[in-house]
Amino acid sequence: MGMQSEGDTNLTGSRAAWQARALDPAARALLARDSRSFLHQSVSTPCLNAIARAEGIWIEDTAGRRFMDFHGNNVHHIGYAHPRLKRAIAQQMEALSFAPRRYACEPAVALAEKLGMIAPGNLSKVLLTTGGSDAVEVAVKIARAATGRFKTLSFWDSFHGAGIGAASLSGESLFRAGPAAPLVAGAQHVAPFACYRCRYGHDVDEDGAPFLARCRTACADMVDYVLAREGDVAAVIAEPARAVPYLPPPGYWRAVRDACDRHGALLVFDEIPTGLGKTGRMFACEHEGVAPDMLVLGKALGGGMLPIAAVIARPDLDVGAEWAFGHYTHEKNPITARAALTTIEIIEDENLVAYAARLGEIALERMTDMKRRLPAIGDVRGRGLLLGIELVRSRTEKLPDPALAESVLYRALDAGLSFKTTMGNVLTLTPPLITTEAEMLRALAIIEEAIAA
Ligand SMILES: Cc1ncc(COP(=O)(O)O)c(C=O)c1O
Repeated sequence: MGMQSEGDTNLTGSRAAWQARALDPAARALLARDSRSFLHQSVSTPCLNAIARAEGIWIEDTAGRRFMDFHGNNVHHIGYAHPRLKRAIAQQMEALSFAPRRYACEPAVALAEKLGMIAPGNLSKVLLTTGGSDAVEVAVKIARAATGRFKTLSFWDSFHGAGIGAASLSGESLFRAGPAAPLVAGAQHVAPFACYRCRYGHDVDEDGAPFLARCRTACADMVDYVLAREGDVAAVIAEPARAVPYLPPPGYWRAVRDACDRHGALLVFDEIPTGLGKTGRMFACEHEGVAPDMLVLGKALGGGMLPIAAVIARPDLDVGAEWAFGHYTHEKNPITARAALTTIEIIEDENLVAYAARLGEIALERMTDMKRRLPAIGDVRGRGLLLGIELVRSRTEKLPDPALAESVLYRALDAGLSFKTTMGNVLTLTPPLITTEAEMLRALAIIEEAIAA
């Protein structure tokens, strides 16, 4: 297998050592049944632990131990088991529990209208799917139909979903190499923005000195270059803020937007993890002042309870009337639609977007402080509640320290904090938007102690 870009896997010795020390007999028994029954895959089965409850920011294992969940697959913006969402879903089950194909239903229509209202630019026409991977593939089909082209351009190191189409866009060998191939033809990639480890040779200085004058966003130039050379790319598809996390350098998306317009490619933002307030704006692309031609949402849209995703497109991209791009059984499921609508209402009514921005600033300040004390921290970065701490063996050489990252992860679990590592050495923190300041500071203290130890 190629370079590890997904998080901590179930293939390592430290995972086994933690389990030997931490798991109780009930968890062991359930994990053994799980492992016998499910097909194995490296970031899922065999599992880490067994969960019995999930509420607010907390998950609880079968032994009754509680963990703050700073991972949550980015589904838990409003916290697990939000009472208002549970009530809304229960009421919807009583009122109307399914909509067979060819029938409109109130919750699905209301959701589509709501998505059109909150989406950036004039994006307003919606197609719903059950999962994010499917929604990404729908966006590709729309782009093909609208442009008469089939090629795509996306980022190395990205993940856009498990389907063969979405895996072709993805840039991680874990999802696209070996038995996942052959992939969809025409799926091109560029190295993404990554200012701390710039693939175009313009790393940010150790002191974070201004770098744009020097690099002139070479990363955005490369997108323009590939679009020009190919001349017939249907769409650029990317996360506006990368989940590693990496933020775009200022002006990146403006430049890529202009390049797309020049070369006739559509711009599709995958905001499956970042959408609905995670970065302190309703959508991460709002920080950049750039609206895409299509936006893809998922994960938190179902409120951490139900699976639902969406493509929101410019109205003039409604070009598939003679086809069936989103022919999904649960396309207009009233229960999942109700869950999504209520989740957005909760995010708005509880002012979670502005709160995430504020709490993110506090966290980043605290992380910057930690970096001053701990030489093992090479970089801290993020926006809102998409945060990362990059661990290195040496600050000057920036040698990644995945072994330390793994040991911090397992020490943190011992202290009641769960998160995931990305690219092997980045502690990736994506807490719910309802995390209190005290909980955030507690989590960062756990991490600091674990790194120092
Ligand atoms: C950026 C991004 N796109 C797409 C997906 C796929 O979504 P789903 O797992 O709902 O198919 C994910 C899931 O992790 C993601 O992070």
